[in-house]
Amino acid sequence: MIKIAGKTYWLIGASEGLGRELAKLLADGGAKVIVSARNAARLEDLSEHSDAISTLPLDVMDLEAVKTAAATIGEIDGLIYCAGAYEPMPATAWDTEAVLRMSDINYTGALRVLGETVPQFVERGSGDITLIGSLSAYRGLPNAIGYGSSKSALQSLAETMRFDLAGSGVLVRIVNPGFIETRLTQKNNFKMPQLMSAKAAAKRVLKAMKRRRFRTDFPRPFSWVIRLITALPDWIVYRGK
Ligand SMILES: NC(=O)c1ccc[n+]([C@@H]2O[C@H](COP(=O)([O-])OP(=O)(O)OC[C@H]3O[C@@H](n4cnc5c(N)ncnc54)[C@H](OP(=O)(O)O)[C@@H]3O)[C@@H](O)[C@H]2O)c1
Repeated sequence: MIKIAGKTYWLIGASEGLGRELAKLLADGGAKVIVSARNAARLEDLSEHSDAISTLPLDVMDLEAVKTAAATIGEIDGLIYCAGAYEPMPATAWDTEAVLRMSDINYTGALRVLGETVPQFVERGSGDITLIGSLSAYRGLPNAIGYGSSKSALQSLAETMRFDLAGSGVLVRIVNPGFIETRLTQKNNFKMPQLMSAKAAAKRVLKAMKRRRFRTDFPRPFSWVIRLITALPDWIVYRGK
């Protein structure tokens, strides 16, 4: 069991939704949390929740800003990458800028942040990394250009890092949630199975952070259905397509 109390976490993507609720839970659990996102006012407001929360406004699309933040943040025990962007979009209505933005925030932004933190963790011989993925990472799904592929890339990255960092003292896990009630899913116009509150999802992430297990998918049984679809042969999945 990994202890949260007494640790210092850098939580990126904390101004809204899942990250915001997770920051509160971590602080309530005795951790110090440095919260990042672009919206400084929302971060300040979040820091009112607890003295254990301090703010570090950041745009993960800006490499120089990420470098400065990582160089000045001081010693941290763990990193949580929760920044995310989502715009539902089919390949028949391709919006290049929106797709690039999703890719940049969901995946390349993680590369920027990890590139500036993992070497510090490796040198120190300790570090705890949680990447917030998505169940959409498992299969290319309709209407998800940009989002699904960036989450798949993030998952592949996590898998590689788990191999490479074994024995280094740096632990990497990925947490793949299903549908969460946030401003992102407000864009969906379909019925979302097992839609959960941001607070309930944050509790699941916190639970996963206390374990060494590589992957946590939730909620069940929706996550099982997604994994089952992944196992189906192409001739069934793409029948008539
Ligand atoms: N909602 C769902 O159903 C769902 C399902 C599976 C996975 N997820 C994942 O869960 C994570 C949180 O999503 P959410 O639903 O809580 O969405 P959200 O409420 O929109 O929160 C996204 C967070 O990412 C931050 N962010 C976006 N662009 C950023 C940038 N360029 N630099 C720094 N921070 C940035 C946002 O802050 P600013 O706008 O202030 O920068 C915000 O704090 C994402 O990785 C998302 O993909 C969500």
